[in-house]
Amino acid sequence: MANTVVVASGKGGVGKSTLTAGLGRAAAAAGKKTLLIDCDAGLGCLDILFGRTADCAFNWMDVYEERCTCEDALIHLEQHLWLLPVPRTLVIDFPEDAISSFVEKYGEDYDLILIDAPAGIGSGLKRAAKAAQRAVVVATPDAVSVRGAWAVARLLTQEGIKEARLIVNRFDYKAVRKKKLFNVDSAVDQTAVQLIGVVPEEEKIITSSVTGKQLKKSSSAVRAFARIERRIAGEQVTLKASYLK
Ligand SMILES: Nc1ncnc2c1ncn2[C@@H]1O[C@H](COP(=O)(O)OP(=O)(O)OP(=O)(O)O)[C@@H](O)[C@H]1O
Ligand SMILES: [Mg+2]
Repeated sequence: MANTVVVASGKGGVGKSTLTAGLGRAAAAAGKKTLLIDCDAGLGCLDILFGRTADCAFNWMDVYEERCTCEDALIHLEQHLWLLPVPRTLVIDFPEDAISSFVEKYGEDYDLILIDAPAGIGSGLKRAAKAAQRAVVVATPDAVSVRGAWAVARLLTQEGIKEARLIVNRFDYKAVRKKKLFNVDSAVDQTAVQLIGVVPEEEKIITSSVTGKQLKKSSSAVRAFARIERRIAGEQVTLKASYLK
C-alpha cells in the first residue's frame, strides 16, 4: 500500500498546493511512483501548477460515479508522476468515500500518494483525511496561520490520522531576525506538532505557478522539497542549521 499523506492547513493560501506539487516532483525525481490527488473541489489548482489544465477531461467524481475509468481520469505529468484531477465545479459534501475508495482500489500501484486538501476544518478535509494514514500540516511563520495549524492537527488526530508533522513554509530569515515573523521553534511550540521541514520564501515559486515551468534543481525551495520528501519516506535527514537560528 502506498504511503498516503494528506497536505492540510487551517488557514488558506499558506502553500499546500505548492508543497504538494514540489514534494511530488521530489519523490518522482527520486524514482518513486507518485500520485497527486487534488481534493480542493471547486478551487483546485494542481492542473494549473503543472500547466496541464487542457488535459483534465475527467476527475475523481467521474471515476466514483463510473462515468470513466481510473486510466481515463489520470494525467501523466512527468516520469513517475501522475495527477488525479478535481471537479472544477464546487461540490460541497461530496460522498465521504469519494477519495478513500479511489485510494483503496488503485493506491497499491504507487509508492507515495499526496492529497492536496482544502483549507480549513470542514467536510472536504475530513474526506481527504479518510483516505490518508499520515498528514503534513502547513503553516507560514505568523500567529494566524500557526493557530490554524494547531486546530487542523487536532482535528486530523480525531479523524484517525496516525502521524501529523509540521512544514513551516515561506521561512524568511531576515524577517525572523527582525522579529517580524515567528522563528521555527515558536511555530513548533505553538502548533504542538513535530517538525518535518522548512521551506524558504522563494520568489520564483510564484512565477513558476504562472508559467507551469519547474524551478531549477539548485533552487533552495527545490532542495528543501527533496529533504522533506526523504523524511516523509522515513529517512533521517538533518535540518539545515540556518533554519534554527
Ligand atoms: N515558499 C514560498 N515562497 C514564495 N511564495 C510561495 C511559497 N509557497 C507558496 N507561495 C505562494 O503562495 C501563494 C499560495 O500558495 P498555494 O496556492 O500553494 O497555497 P494553498 O495553501 O494551496 O492555498 P489554498 O488554501 O487557497 O488552497 C501562491 O501564490 C504561491 O506561489
Ligand atoms: Mg491549494
